[in-house]
Amino acid sequence: MGMTQAPSSSRPLRVTRAPAPLAGTVAVPGDKSISHRALMFSALAEGETRIIGLLEGEDVLRTADAMRALGAHITRDENGRWHVRGRGLGALTEPSDVLDMGNSGTAARLLSGILASHGMMSVMTGDASLRRRPMKRVTDPLAGTGATFLAREGGRLPLAIQGNATPAPLDYRLPVASAQVKSAVLLAGLNAAGETRVEEPVPTRDHTENMLRHFGAQVAVEETPEGGRIIRLQGKPHLIARDVTVPGDPSSAAFVLVAALLVAGSDVVISNVGLNPLRTGLFTTLREMGARLDITNERTEGGEPVGDLHVQASSLQAVDVPAERAPSMIDEYPILAVAAAFATGISRFRGVEELRVKESDRLASTVALLEKNGVRTKVDGDDLIIYGTQGAIPGGGTVETHMDHRLAMSASILGLVAKNPVEIDDTAFIDTSFPGYFPLLNSLGAGFAA
Ligand code: S3P
Repeated sequence: MGMTQAPSSSRPLRVTRAPAPLAGTVAVPGDKSISHRALMFSALAEGETRIIGLLEGEDVLRTADAMRALGAHITRDENGRWHVRGRGLGALTEPSDVLDMGNSGTAARLLSGILASHGMMSVMTGDASLRRRPMKRVTDPLAGTGATFLAREGGRLPLAIQGNATPAPLDYRLPVASAQVKSAVLLAGLNAAGETRVEEPVPTRDHTENMLRHFGAQVAVEETPEGGRIIRLQGKPHLIARDVTVPGDPSSAAFVLVAALLVAGSDVVISNVGLNPLRTGLFTTLREMGARLDITNERTEGGEPVGDLHVQASSLQAVDVPAERAPSMIDEYPILAVAAAFATGISRFRGVEELRVKESDRLASTVALLEKNGVRTKVDGDDLIIYGTQGAIPGGGTVETHMDHRLAMSASILGLVAKNPVEIDDTAFIDTSFPGYFPLLNSLGAGFAA
């Protein structure tokens, strides 16, 4: 049980300046969002799915364990391909023990939709971080299927779910921009007769829609005049096993990308990165800041656009990030904050309230990361303001990562360019999304002691 926070298993790290420019070509691990979905949807399909490039991070391994506990047959072959023999829609079996989703909000939220629409009882828990995160955002709409939920105060895990074998289809307008909530509602709709409809005020990542279609479901998407989307899913589709190729995770590439932008003289290629337009807000933002970032070799793989990122160290200017862009870069704000701290001028990230409910309160933990290392910040309502240091981040701070992988990686990149060494309390959680993170950056010359 690597993910239940045992102080003895924490991995502190002291980071000093990169000894030289970063140079070389690397490929980052598979996309986390797509990997979770590939395992879940293939478990609901008939036949055997092969998954190429699955992220073998802790979060995704929890999803694999959960789908096994629900009756799917899942193996990994010697070439690193994963094989899933599905049960068919509505045919998962009752788990004999508690499902432990570790650190993963995506695993917990998406699985809730699946469990609500199966006629069985299940209990879900997670690590201390996940047990603090809100689940009412999914259990409120899912209750409309006829499933019942028992949770701790505030709708938190552990959560007991009595699913409904004949769920009612939902018609739901998302109160927050969340791909996880959208996906939970759509997944519950798979086993419901009739049409499930979800309206989102701002488009969020559409991997669920794309992959459900790939497995044979009918999903129609319509843009609203207000710039949102309406998604309609026809219930009771015949889901058939289909191979899935997982692209490199743009949210993982983000850390390598910003490192190469900030470490003077760097020149790096990150190959095979997913470029779904609902995920690339960071690339747009960094270009607005003056980043030298080229995308080459653009192609489509497994229904998702992919390409190679060529990045060269750049002098960055401050940026004003509009609130509407947040869903397309929601996981990238901590590392963008490091770039903004290094840049010239005052940056503003607008409407970032959702950061408060991530693996940590990322608004607070990002502010603390910067302040402890001599960078001024201000929180103005739901906006984050960062006072750039013109390439002179003092550093010297001790960073608390609060079980948050992206905080730990952001702190490590800040340490590569700060004047004084940066202490990180725990880097162990990086394994949730980016196994091999330090060796990969060291292969480019980062010189981490890890
Ligand atoms: C995800 C959606 C986002 C994101 C998370 C992955 C997904 O969460 O932060 O890392 O795979 O659907 P929200 O839906 O809570 O915004």
